[in-house]
Parts: sequence; structure tokens; C-alpha cells
Amino acid sequence: MSDPTYRLTILISGNGTNLQALIDACASSSLPSTIITRVISNRKSAYGLTRAANASIPTTYHNLLSYKKRYPESSIQLAREEYDAELASIILSDTPHPDLIVCAGWMHILTPSFLTTVTAAGIPVINLHPALPGEFAGAGAIERAWEAGKKGDVTRTGVMIHEVIAEVDAGRAIAVQEVELRQGESLEELEDRIHQVEHRLIVEGTKKKLQEIGDKRAKEVGGSQPST
Ligand code: GAR
Repeated sequence: MSDPTYRLTILISGNGTNLQALIDACASSSLPSTIITRVISNRKSAYGLTRAANASIPTTYHNLLSYKKRYPESSIQLAREEYDAELASIILSDTPHPDLIVCAGWMHILTPSFLTTVTAAGIPVINLHPALPGEFAGAGAIERAWEAGKKGDVTRTGVMIHEVIAEVDAGRAIAVQEVELRQGESLEELEDRIHQVEHRLIVEGTKKKLQEIGDKRAKEVGGSQPST
């Protein structure tokens, strides 16, 4: 029997270097039997959309601004919920459904209206956070760690790939790597070193999560077979 093929939907907002690491891994033995079936960006100018097009991967630009315009500023949460519900529908309109959603530099906090829908469809979501578990949740994590390092509050930061839950950057960690903070290092130098780690860890975390999904499915199939 041939290996199952795993389908990934990747969410991006920017340059897409982490997306590129996943595209390259799918084309090599690093992520065997895995294809990226759609890349979705919340920014039109995201270069990651070009990277996806270059790899012949379908892309969607999904824009929060048009949802914000439909609501008064006091109802921004409603706009976000509607945006996220539509994001889930875009993902679920692909058949077969993806096996996993990977947030690879996705700078938008997912509301329960998204998470509940994709979870009900049995699709897990993982995210890249450029810091260690429990540290520097939210945007600007690398800079905040660098500042804390300068003050002597911390001596290391890191990168994690984790499951997405409603609480920001707080789900179960799947892959973690520490990165030491070096005295006198510029923010740009630290960012470069962190990005190198991200590009390896996003592949490792995705692979681990796909293995978990495969193991879970094998157990379910085994469990449903009649005993002899
Ligand atoms: C990543 O390097 C990461 O540090 C940052 O966005 C960048 C995206 O780069 N933040 C997050 O991922 C927060 N979840 P990329 O578009 O080149 O992959």
C-alpha cells in the first residue's frame, strides 16, 4: 500500500521564507508524501504569494479591511469573526480537505469562530512563534526578547511550533529550539539567527504533527476493525 498523501493549507502574511522552507521540504524527502494545496495571505503584497505561484500552488488573498468597512469601529470583533468564518469556509471549500493548517508568519489572531469550525472538521492548526513556550506572546517577540536580553533579564530566547488554541501563542508545543542571546548583537543579527532556526523548525514541527495525525488515523482504523 502506498503512503498516504498529506495536504497542507498554509497561512502567510509576508515574505514567505517559512513557506519556502515548507515548499522545499515537500519537494524533497524532508516532508515525504506531503503537498501544499493552498496558500492564503491576509496581505495582498505578501511576497509569499509569488513564492506559492512560482511553485504552482493555488493562492487566495483574504482581506480583513473589506470586513472592517462593513462595521462601525466599535464592532471590530464582529468584523474579525465574520472574516474568520469566511477564512474557514475558503479552507473547507477545498476537497479533499487539508489534513493540517500551518500558520507560517501569519500575523492575524484567529478567533474561536475559525478554530471551532476547522476543529469540528477535524483539521488541526499549528503556528510558528519566534520565542520559547510561555514567553513573549504576540507580535514583536524577537525584539522584545532582544530588549530583555540587553537588560540582562534573559540569556536565551528561541522558536516554537505549537498547536493553535484561542489563547495567543499558548497551545501545546510540538517543536522547540532555544537560541542564546549574545551580548552586543544587533537586533538584525538576532533576527537572522532566529529565522534560520524557524526554517528548520517549521519543517520539523509540521512533520511531527503529520506523524501524530497519521498515528491517530491508524489507531482509529485498527480500532474499528472487527476482532478475529
Ligand atoms: C517570521 O520570521 C516570524 O518570526 C514572524 O513572522 C515572520 C514571517 O516571515 N512572526 C510570526 O510568525 C508570528 N507568529 P516569513 O514571511 O518570511 O516566513
